[in-house]
Amino acid sequence: MKKSSIVIITCLLINILSQAQGIRERVNFDDNWYFAFGHPFNKSRDFNTGTSYFTYLAKARYGGDGAAAIDFDHRAWRKLNVPHDWAVEMPFDSKASHSHGYKAVGPGFPDVSVGWYRKTFKIDSTDLGKQIFLDFDGVSRDSKVWVNGHYLGNEPSGYQSFSYNISDILNYGEENVVAVRADVSMEEGWYYEGAGIYRHVWLRKTSGLHVPKDGTFVYSEIKDNDALVRVEVEVVNKENHSIEFGVLNQLVDAEGKVVATSVNDVDTLDAMAHTQMKSEIKVNDAHLWSLKDPYLHTVLTQITVGGKVVDEYRTRIGIRSIRFDANKGFFLNGEHVKLKGTNNHQDHAGVGCAMPDDLIRWRLQQLKSFGSNAIRSSHNPPTPELLQLCDEMGMLVIDENRLMGTTEKALHEMERLIRRDRNHPSVIVWSVGNEEWGIEWNEIGARMTQTMQNFARQIDPTRPVNVAISGGWGQGSSTSVEIMGFNYLIHGDTDEFHQQFPDKPCIGTEEGSTYTTRGVYIEDDEKHYKTAYDVKPLPGWFTIQECWKHYIERDYLSGMFIWTGFDYRGEPTPYVWPSVTSYFGMMDLCGFPKDNVYYLKSWWQDKPVLHLLPHWNWHDGDTINVWAYSNCNEVELFLNNKSLGKKAMEPNGHLAWNVPFKSGSIKAIGYNNGKKVLTCERKTTGKAKNIQLVCNKTTLNNNGIAMITVDVTDKRGNHIATADHLLEFEIEGAGKIIGVGNGNPTSLEKEVFVDTYLQIELPKAELVDMDSVEIEKSNLKGDVELKAMRTSFTLNDIPNAEQSYTWYYKHVGNQQSIYLNGHLLREKVLAKAGDAQFAIDKNWLKMGENNIVVIADPFKPKNKWDEPNKIPGVIQVITKSEKVHRRLFKGLAQVIVQADGEGEINLKATSEGLEAGEIKIVVKNTIDR
Ligand code: GAL
Repeated sequence: MKKSSIVIITCLLINILSQAQGIRERVNFDDNWYFAFGHPFNKSRDFNTGTSYFTYLAKARYGGDGAAAIDFDHRAWRKLNVPHDWAVEMPFDSKASHSHGYKAVGPGFPDVSVGWYRKTFKIDSTDLGKQIFLDFDGVSRDSKVWVNGHYLGNEPSGYQSFSYNISDILNYGEENVVAVRADVSMEEGWYYEGAGIYRHVWLRKTSGLHVPKDGTFVYSEIKDNDALVRVEVEVVNKENHSIEFGVLNQLVDAEGKVVATSVNDVDTLDAMAHTQMKSEIKVNDAHLWSLKDPYLHTVLTQITVGGKVVDEYRTRIGIRSIRFDANKGFFLNGEHVKLKGTNNHQDHAGVGCAMPDDLIRWRLQQLKSFGSNAIRSSHNPPTPELLQLCDEMGMLVIDENRLMGTTEKALHEMERLIRRDRNHPSVIVWSVGNEEWGIEWNEIGARMTQTMQNFARQIDPTRPVNVAISGGWGQGSSTSVEIMGFNYLIHGDTDEFHQQFPDKPCIGTEEGSTYTTRGVYIEDDEKHYKTAYDVKPLPGWFTIQECWKHYIERDYLSGMFIWTGFDYRGEPTPYVWPSVTSYFGMMDLCGFPKDNVYYLKSWWQDKPVLHLLPHWNWHDGDTINVWAYSNCNEVELFLNNKSLGKKAMEPNGHLAWNVPFKSGSIKAIGYNNGKKVLTCERKTTGKAKNIQLVCNKTTLNNNGIAMITVDVTDKRGNHIATADHLLEFEIEGAGKIIGVGNGNPTSLEKEVFVDTYLQIELPKAELVDMDSVEIEKSNLKGDVELKAMRTSFTLNDIPNAEQSYTWYYKHVGNQQSIYLNGHLLREKVLAKAGDAQFAIDKNWLKMGENNIVVIADPFKPKNKWDEPNKIPGVIQVITKSEKVHRRLFKGLAQVIVQADGEGEINLKATSEGLEAGEIKIVVKNTIDR
């Protein structure tokens, strides 16, 4: 291979740039899927997939049978767009998995534990010769994928992104079909994981010579204000011949201006070979990425052949430096930053894990609103869109691997994560293990940690490795790990550890695990209520305030990550059924702040804060413990405008008073240097009168998300913190309600309101004697020989008013007349006219056996092995969902609306005895993706 370098001049660059349009495409593939339940072990209920003589593991395309087959008829399945999480649509069940939030899915629920998705798509004939890939951000879980009946592969983990090259097997200029089977019969995590294609899907097209997925690695070295940006580019040649090519990298700023350029590297690649090219870009006075100014650049990599651009790859980066110091903590661009983090899983009220990007953005905004600057994606690789948003919004991330392991396969899993995520400026640490109780304290833990660390360094020498360790501090993993992760102060003495390992940087990877219920101030085990006051979860454990004081007082601790930012489904510790979500969050499952948020807001950011708890709806004679969270110097409390005294605020503390309740108002005034800064008042509220809807936005992009907070107020407009009304919602216009919630850990209400789909697969029709069928035969005469075919299906119930029945018919002859329970449904339907579907009159249906007679001119076999179709299709039953409803919990509920069109959305909320509430949202015709 020859290799040379030539410097390219700017005018040539502009020329190249203009030729490059449309070279690489990445098309969103989320819309228009069809979905149905299969079965983990009952083959006939899994569309008989994998039952043919030659299976998909033995024969290309031919073996893709059942629901994986190219010609499988999925018209009767439910049509939907992904991200989709079918687990969240399931009811709660006390027999279901505790750790997964008691959703009736997974172990013990085989009928709803396998989900199939199919989608047809056209590929243009002009795409022939390109490399075409299907990229999945993540499918929960154990997914198998087929395209045009070809089995592509299996991804056991629900958290890995994966990709299949489908170039050779596509029908160019024609229809193609992709089938995905996801199986959640086994769980991966000890927390809710969702089910199905719950992240985005993409179709990617490149030229034969191209940069593969995650094929660049860009990192910077910063000296004074200048940066040296190192760019490593992989190139693969999927053409049938060797090619001489050039690689050029340009650094483009956020305004689209080329800031600096690398030299053009030239190389030659044989067919199917790949290489890596390294170059440098010098940037004077670089605009750095920081938390306050998350400025992003793009490295535009162009692959040229004979002066023509054949591929163009964009890597979004942030120029920044990171450093962990064993004594002083974490530094970003040389500036000290205390990590104020939360751990988070990936589900939200209403939508489960099928989280639209806008909702991820909203959750990050909620975290930032109280001064949090970091998240730990516990305990799995996050969706790539979360990292993109952290890059854009200025959040730091501990990016966590799924399964600790050092086999080639396990290391490869970690490699996939690191290669995918290593260009994100937000990612500062790779976490390779969490509370590995079997090994964290012993030699095996030490060895595995060392091996994973060495391996990670080969793929990314710019970031350190961390393990979150709960026991055996000073032994095992903690001896070899680069960055010590303390999981809970209860498990040891961090000062002692620091003395023992003075050169090892440390982070509090998990702290807190306190139990709180939003809006509850009296513990009640019968109701599964924990109080929202910051109290120790168990004797000897630590409150949030105690944890933070420990971490802020020690410079060697880089910061702490609270368990957790948001409540999540599963792990309802310390309770079991009917508690279905965790109690650990600083916010509830809807992202409504619990009082602890205001403690953090007081000490995690600089703006003045004053917050009082609890609400002021009590009974005369009650003594109420009133707390003030504030960062003001002093706080004075007033009961019905009478001062109860002024108290000085201790840094990182809170203030408390015991107040005999009197109806009226409790008010706090915050002072800084003797000057009034803030007031916070809680009033005793009157009877509920109005429903109030408040949206986080007034306009939405098409596909965007509106987060609507619902509450009720008294006649003076005061929010009633104790209200628990049942509300009904109606939506009109360019949007739909995709989920509802209220943050109540014991709520077993429905979260998603979708129609229920059922398919009645019709049995094969048998030829019967024409005289035996009781139908009107006078009009059957024709010029072809007609035969009678008969089959039947059973209904367990009488069709109800909410149901509709559609017959997706499959021809059994060239021509046919179709009878249902003696009624002529369609006459002389011709196969050559194509697919047929009929609405069924419900009055013709009955409970028990329903008879189908088809008078047809049956298909004849062309070859002796042909088996002409005798199954007359599938009947689809749709049961309309109930009206969307949800109860308020401690005064609040949430409605999540997604725009799906252009115009206006009107959302109305009603409840018996209350004035209705209404809100309008405008939707613009710009896609948000
Ligand atoms: C930790 C664990 C977390 C969560 C938490 C609950 O041990 O790492 O995933 O289970 O406890 O307290």
